[in-house]
Formats: sequence, structure tokens, C-alpha cells
Amino acid sequence: CGNSDTGDAAGTGGDDKLVLGFSQVGAESGWRTANTTSVKEAAAEAGIELKFDDAQQKQENQIKAIRNFIQQKVDVIAFSPVVESGWDTVLKEAKDAGIPVILTDRAVDSADKSLYKTFLGSDFVKEGRLAGEWLVEETKSATGPVNIVELQGTTGSAPANDRKKGFGEAIAANPNLKIIASQSGDFTRAGGKAVMEQFLKANPKIDVLFSHNDDMGLGALEAITAAGKEPGKDIKIITVDAVKDGMQALADGKFNFIAECSPLLGPQLMDLAKKVHAGEEVPPRIETEETTFTQETAKEALPTRKY
Ligand code: AHR
Repeated sequence: CGNSDTGDAAGTGGDDKLVLGFSQVGAESGWRTANTTSVKEAAAEAGIELKFDDAQQKQENQIKAIRNFIQQKVDVIAFSPVVESGWDTVLKEAKDAGIPVILTDRAVDSADKSLYKTFLGSDFVKEGRLAGEWLVEETKSATGPVNIVELQGTTGSAPANDRKKGFGEAIAANPNLKIIASQSGDFTRAGGKAVMEQFLKANPKIDVLFSHNDDMGLGALEAITAAGKEPGKDIKIITVDAVKDGMQALADGKFNFIAECSPLLGPQLMDLAKKVHAGEEVPPRIETEETTFTQETAKEALPTRKY
């Protein structure tokens, strides 16, 4: 199993403090670190006892963590599923044990919606679409092909599937826009850098990079610079997230556009945990409010950016 950090010796939720078991994807990106901080701070603030597990981006670790939470009889389980499929069995075990489950950040593809109480997170399809729409507008006067390379997030994850879909649908509006290569960089800087190096070697003309998150885009920046090209100019860079390092790259003119994805889900998650524990009805899907940033708006937003 991943790194468990329970902070509770008894571990059964026997006192009247609500006990929340939370299985996090990992620590693959700046977004994820900010999300973990938000969850931990909000739990402390809400007086909720948090049992936190880091799955190190492995589904099997998440399944083990959830089974541990069931064994420990936590009051509520929340998790951010690393991939979309393969959850039915363990979710059924939680349901049979009478423990409500909240999906945070990422969704599952289970047909049986009764296996979880609610989903809290972003509309990833919309994020991809906003990124694509910006590019369509930006390239509306292009007379020849615009070659795009795509750095996908973790294979099989909801944000990778959905951002790819939204972006692809939006760019269909301009037949000049073509995705010439698309590969996973697993949402990490190292992954983004390594895959971008391959893209650059294999494709003499790359006009645009669409990266499913800031971190892979930041890794790709290094590869682009090392190849003697100017990021933001020779190759336009569009990303998703808007974490501080990404916003800095945008303000510096190295990125061109970011669709925001907010990691600050902690306070809403604690609120939902209390509600589902009390048996209250909650909406089946709660979406985070998000915006987009250009180089100009990033400069304005940076000084007060929290993560
Ligand atoms: O699920 C949200 C995605 O996961 C973020 O966009 C990415 O940075 C993270 O790793």
C-alpha cells in the first residue's frame, strides 16, 4: 500500500469526531500538492479526523487503501481515482459495509451510480474545449496546416480522456488544425520533457503544444529550449491547471494560454463528508467554478495566486 499517514492510534472513529479516509492519487504535479494541502488544512479546520493515503499513482494501492479504510470502519471514504475504470468491486465492498463514498477531482465509469454519493470536481471536457476554442480563435487567419502535438495526462484517467475529447471537438472547427502526435507524459514534468524530446526529434514542424497540465508543459519547455526553439513564440503552448509555476511561465510569455482547474476542493469536501455522514441528500455532481488565463491576465492574477 502507499504511504499512510493516519495520525490516529485507535483508528476506529470511536469518539464523536467524524473520521474521513482519503485516498490521494499521488504527488505527481503542483496541482496535486496543492490539492493535498487543501484537503489536510480543511479537515483540520472542520474538526474532521483525516486518514490520508498517498497511492503513488497506482490503482492497486488505492484499492488497498480503500479496503483498509473499510476495515478500520471510517465514517466516510473519499478518493480521487487514478483511472476511470475498475472500481466496482471495491466500491461495492464499501457500500455493503455501509460507508458512504465521495469521488473528488476525478470520476469513475461505474454504471451503478449508487456505489458513490456524489462527485466533487471540475468539468474536464470543458477545460479541453476552452483550450481548443482559444486556439481556433488564435489561428483563424492561418492559411496552411497548424501542427499540434499533445501531451496527455495519465492513460485512462478522467482528465486525460476528457481534456483530449473537449480539445479535439473544439479544434474540429478549423480544418487547418491537426494533431500530428499525441502521447502520455503521466502528468509529470519528467514525463512531459521526455515525450516532448521525442516529438521534437520526430517532427520538424511543430506549431503548438497542448499539454493536459502545467507540469508536463513546464517539462516540455526545457526540451523546446534545448532544441533551440523559443517556447511561446516558435511553439505556442496551451496547458491546463494554472498553478503558480504555470502562471509564471504564462506571465513570462513562455506559455500562451491556460484553462484553470482548481485544486482547492478541501472545504467543500469536508462539508459534503459531514452531510453524507448525517444521511443528508447531496447533489450527484458538484462542479468547481473555473476561469481561463492569457499572458496579460496571468500577470494580474499572479501576485495573489494561492498555489
Ligand atoms: O485530476 C486533476 C489533474 O491531476 C491535474 O490537472 C493534474 O495536474 C493532476 O495531476
